Amino acid sequence: MPSPFTGGLLLLTAVLFSCGQANPAHHPAPESFARMTNDWDQLTGDAELGRVRARQLCLGCHVIEDVGNQLSDAPTFEQAMAEAYMDPAYLRMWLWNPPAVKVGTLMPDLSLKPDEIENMVAFLARYRPQPASNDVPVDPETHETGSETPARQ
Ligand code: HEC
Repeated sequence: MPSPFTGGLLLLTAVLFSCGQANPAHHPAPESFARMTNDWDQLTGDAELGRVRARQLCLGCHVIEDVGNQLSDAPTFEQAMAEAYMDPAYLRMWLWNPPAVKVGTLMPDLSLKPDEIENMVAFLARYRPQPASNDVPVDPETHETGSETPARQ
């Protein structure tokens, strides 16, 4: 028969465990995040795997490729990726544990693993705004940008 001490310990463990689920402070980000790139062009995730996973997990609240349900409280991925604060490091933290980033948010912790997050960051990068026209190389002869040069017939 278990001693009262064992019973108390089990109860304490159960209470601590349930706190860990509810309190973002007990759900720290993986240390590997600190070593991941914050450069959109250096991402190592597999965007296609991220896309498949996103279409399994996110469609309840975000539309992806015309499928799913767009919650009025949730941004479209285009809107989210156009935010000035959006970078890979922020996105990892968000996908890891939304309530830890924004207290009271309706987006739940979906228990994504770090590699799933990396794939999803690569997928979401596709929704970033197109570069502004001043990023287009300037023609050294005409001093016009590529986008303004009329197409040859
Ligand atoms: C239960 C609904 C729900 C699900 C499921 C959900 N989201 Fe969200 N998502 C939201 C809401 C609501 C917001 C707006 C958050 C806020 O501002 O409080 C949001 C915001 C976001 C943002 C923008 C965050 C920011 O700070 O700008 C991204 C990116 C995002 N979601 C991606 C995803 C991805 C990827 C999935 C699937 C893995 C997903 N969401 C699943 C509801 C959801």
